[in-house]
Amino acid sequence: MEQRQIFVHLVLVLFLMVLVRAKPEGGLREEEEADRILELPGQPKVSFQQFSGYVTVNKVAGRALFYWLTEAPQNPLSKPLVIWLNGGPGCSSVAYGASEEIGPFRINKTTSGLYINKFSWNTVANLLFLEAPAGVGFSYSNRSSDLLDTGDRRTAEDSLEFVIQWLERFPRYKNRELYITGESYAGHYVPQLAQEIMTYNTKTKQPINLKGIMVGNAVTDNYYDNLGTVTYWWSHAMISDQTYRQLINTCDFHRQKESDECESLYSYAMDQEFGNIDQYNIYAPPCNNSDGTTSPTRHTMRFPHRPHPGFRQLSGYDPCTEKYAEIYYNRPDVQKALHANTTGISYKWTACNDVLNRNWNDTDVSILPIYRELMARGIRVWVFSGDVDSVVPVTATRYALAQLKLSTKIAWYPWYVKNQVGGWTEVYEGLTFATVRGAGHEVPLFKPRAALQLFKSFLAGKPLPKS
Ligand SMILES: *[C@@H]1O[C@H](CO)[C@@H](O)[C@H](O)[C@H]1NC(C)=O
Ligand SMILES: *[C@@H]1O[C@H](CO)[C@@H](O)[C@H](O)[C@H]1NC(C)=O
Ligand SMILES: *[C@@H]1O[C@H](CO)[C@@H](O)[C@H](O)[C@H]1NC(C)=O
Ligand SMILES: *[C@@H]1O[C@H](CO)[C@@H](O)[C@H](O)[C@H]1NC(C)=O
Ligand SMILES: *[C@@H]1O[C@H](CO)[C@@H](O)[C@H](O)[C@H]1NC(C)=O
Repeated sequence: MEQRQIFVHLVLVLFLMVLVRAKPEGGLREEEEADRILELPGQPKVSFQQFSGYVTVNKVAGRALFYWLTEAPQNPLSKPLVIWLNGGPGCSSVAYGASEEIGPFRINKTTSGLYINKFSWNTVANLLFLEAPAGVGFSYSNRSSDLLDTGDRRTAEDSLEFVIQWLERFPRYKNRELYITGESYAGHYVPQLAQEIMTYNTKTKQPINLKGIMVGNAVTDNYYDNLGTVTYWWSHAMISDQTYRQLINTCDFHRQKESDECESLYSYAMDQEFGNIDQYNIYAPPCNNSDGTTSPTRHTMRFPHRPHPGFRQLSGYDPCTEKYAEIYYNRPDVQKALHANTTGISYKWTACNDVLNRNWNDTDVSILPIYRELMARGIRVWVFSGDVDSVVPVTATRYALAQLKLSTKIAWYPWYVKNQVGGWTEVYEGLTFATVRGAGHEVPLFKPRAALQLFKSFLAGKPLPKS
């Protein structure tokens, strides 16, 4: 070929390359626009953008995870991306995180409308609520057996795939600072997803800019969680000295399945000694049923004495909020506005999926090794604890964290929010621990102002205010 011809060819090839590159990007923006939420039924006017929809995480099985992004009203482009996960396992971050805890909207009593949560975390970050794993909320699998064998492993793998695919759909978030947060059984999901991302980052040219994780009332370590839980019951006068002593002497605390003798002691404690309290906030009144009775506090739990935020009465400002969510999110007009349930899922939307929970396949016995790994890689790790939760109580978290044997950077001190003690905190080498005074299991529900302060300090990477 002549030089001229070669040159023409080169130009052509370059032109084609530009075309090929341009096309998917245009397509991506369309995909993003298709996910835009124009307005939710009963929603007040807002100045931030919202998107929601599905991301396919497994084509063979037909698994798709549902997300809801609520951006920051001011300068969203300069604010980080924060993923929020709820636990269960099997509970929805749309039901809890978005609608009762950190999201911009709360559902009103008549479930005909929404009102603004002025302590929403989207005032300082772009919030990405993810319903995980498939089977939770609007997230689904076309392979029905997936509901019977999902566990920590698949949840982590699918969540990583979600993050990768989601960033393709929203390229403006690539390279953005990413934080992963959550509570309760998400004490597993959050560090496990962080670990998946760290591993992925070693194999890719486009690493995900993960900066930190924060978990609250987090399931951390089977043994220390169980030991710390019965200790909390005793120290908060929920059980007798005798029951406490017997539990300590009889139960193994390591195992998933305890001996019959131990189980009957747990039953005695809960049925004969607790009374009808809300275990998720021991000082709050429970939600009344319409007939005037309150629901029993005991619920079926696959894990012995494990948090299971479904099937209970919630308390706090309004202990009935999750009932509102189950009405609101099952409305066809709400689902349409959210681009949810587009394939006609065969069962109703529920705050928690009990089938997933009962059949949970695999669970890490301790998350502490992952904490060590993340700290070693310079990932910011914050752990907080609402101190009136008896399900994953503050004593459980303190026993577990003590096993890390971290050196103290800033000694224990009270932290403040609006001139009041918000809780106590200690800063360790690599990890910050903070309690939230008077908060139950869902800290941002019970103490929204304190929770927002905690979130701001976490994002800034600064110790909580000393006054
Ligand atoms: C699940 O099946 C429905 C109906 O066949 C299909 O429209 C949908 O795309 C499938 N979902 C996934 C994630 O493959
Ligand atoms: C709930 O929201 C709807 C729509 O905004 C409104 O008409 C209704 O008055 C609200 N109800 C309550 C109890 O706040
Ligand atoms: C439940 O009923 C009791 C007695 O009527 C009442 O004092 C309490 O405030 C009710 N709780 C809620 C959350 O409505
Ligand atoms: C999905 O929509 C169908 C109607 O097409 C409805 O029967 C079902 O309850 C919905 N499921 C969820 C999870 O929203
Ligand atoms: C179920 O758990 C076992 C380990 O306990 C694991 O080998 C297997 O891969 C898990 N199954 C799925 C579907 O993740």
